[in-house]
Amino acid sequence: MSFRLQPQPPARPNRCQLFGPGSNTKLFAKMAASAADVINLDLEDSVAPSDKDKARANVIAAIAEHDWGAKTLSVRINSLDTPFWYRDVVDLLEQSDERLDQIMIPKVGCAEDIYAVDALVTAIETAMGRTRKIAFEVIIESAAGIVHVDQIAAASPRLQAMSLGAADFAASMGMQTTGIGGTQENYYMLHEGARHYPDPWHWAQTAIVAACRTHGLLPVDGPFGDFSDDEGYIAQAMRSATLGMVGKWAIHPKQIALANQVFTPSDAAVAEAREILAAMEAAKAAGEGATVYKGRLVDIASIKQAEVIVTQAEMIAAG
Ligand code: COA
Ligand code: MG
Repeated sequence: MSFRLQPQPPARPNRCQLFGPGSNTKLFAKMAASAADVINLDLEDSVAPSDKDKARANVIAAIAEHDWGAKTLSVRINSLDTPFWYRDVVDLLEQSDERLDQIMIPKVGCAEDIYAVDALVTAIETAMGRTRKIAFEVIIESAAGIVHVDQIAAASPRLQAMSLGAADFAASMGMQTTGIGGTQENYYMLHEGARHYPDPWHWAQTAIVAACRTHGLLPVDGPFGDFSDDEGYIAQAMRSATLGMVGKWAIHPKQIALANQVFTPSDAAVAEAREILAAMEAAKAAGEGATVYKGRLVDIASIKQAEVIVTQAEMIAAG
């Protein structure tokens, strides 16, 4: 480890973020009753421009009216290139009570985007006498966002989480696909005549995980558009979990259980991690820094790997 220690991300479950349009009031009670760890009420791209004012009022009412339980409650505001975002921030901060946990800022391209929202939020919080600071989460979904991902992750102490938004990201990069996440038909390697499909999202995901881990944020995988494809969703989520992401969005309620299943460490994985920790305790007692577990090397780095799994499982069990 560097002399500068790696900060811990917020200790809260973030396995599934369920989205719903702010214009669709009939979904709110269902969202509140769902098994998602995080709720994202949307004012941005699932709301038509003519519906923005109504959706904003709906969302402010819904924050007060529904029982959101222990969920993290977040509202996705409009992006900074629109005429809507300042009104989103002002009305949310002036009119919602302190149950609102978080604001999600989409299409972030540079650290100054966060700075601008932070300045506005801070002024309103002070003016209104709000005692609980609103947290931020951001979506990386453009070429500029991924190029500046490290400075974005460092931009404000309010930042808690960062998601990859596959659809806007693909558009911004000029990728020739209309798919939202998952396997892409035209992205294949040929080996002895057979096609193999690598992961075109891998680089962006890894860059986001690295920036998040450096600055103590939660890295999250964004939407998977084809909600009739459970297997495709699970495959995408398992790749994300393997790369270090802690959760994934649900754009339909049937995706919630899939995300919770993938991002909750299995009993077998937790048992194995505990056995590795026990094996390393025994090695330490014998004055050794490495030992053999099920025929493979485990050493001091293995303790940290096992602790990732055990800590995640304990945090989810406690929530
Ligand atoms: N949250 C909670 N419940 C939802 C839901 C959501 N996001 N989306 C659908 N449901 C409910 C429906 O109301 C319906 O409930 P019912 O059985 O009581 O009637 C049930 O789940 C099945 O819904 P279904 O008919 O399969 O879907 P739909 O055609 O009503 O809606 C979408 C499909 C994609 C339009 C809708 O899921 C949606 O708006 N998703 C979120 C989109 C979004 O927020 N995008 C922005 C982020 S990318
Ligand atoms: Mg988007």
